[in-house]
Amino acid sequence: MNMKFFLDTADVEEIRRAVALGMCDGVTTNPSLIMKAGKDHKTVIQEISKVVDGPVSVEGIAETAEDMIKEAEEFSTWGPNVVIKIPMTKEGMKAVRALSQKGVKTNVTLVFSASQALLAAKAGATYVSPFVGRLDDISETGTDLISDIMDIYGNYDFSTEVIVASIRHPVHILESARAGAHIATVPAAVLEKLWHHPLTDNGIKTFKEHHEKHKNTMQ
Ligand code: E4P
Repeated sequence: MNMKFFLDTADVEEIRRAVALGMCDGVTTNPSLIMKAGKDHKTVIQEISKVVDGPVSVEGIAETAEDMIKEAEEFSTWGPNVVIKIPMTKEGMKAVRALSQKGVKTNVTLVFSASQALLAAKAGATYVSPFVGRLDDISETGTDLISDIMDIYGNYDFSTEVIVASIRHPVHILESARAGAHIATVPAAVLEKLWHHPLTDNGIKTFKEHHEKHKNTMQ
């Protein structure tokens, strides 16, 4: 199994750049990210789904299972790779079960406990999204939840994949990788931070200087 990176954004240019670097296996969006993108919901999802081959999670605001299923039917027409984000509620899990029976992929969102993750897997979710940053915000250790979920899922044959969400910094990604999470959904600014180390920059600079010096002495 490979750890996959999704981009947690609705900014098409950010997605294009990550795709070009081979670091975007999918995309997650939510109503806040769509608002930030400042474009019509359908238009932006259609654009994203053309840029990325992998799954694109789309989130609505319906509260009943019936309305969630209606929303899912509409969102599914926006792109072949659309995944329906469903909130972790009883109505949500009813919708997940029904959608999964129809072969529609789901991503259970707003998950903050291992028991919720267990319910999502039992409902047949394709993905489950525990939010690590928002747990840190209330003085818990968000990534402990990822280890718990991976341990629990490892005891069974659930096919549900864990998307670590609400990532705020590189250590969230490393801790998720240590726990064996299937996917991290990462804001572009955090993805950028993964690349850099001052010793790499200094090393490149020094090797270049020494190459030039050597070339000049050889002339
Ligand atoms: C992704 O699925 C989530 O919607 C997102 O990671 C939430 O991140 P936030 O807690 O930074 O809003």
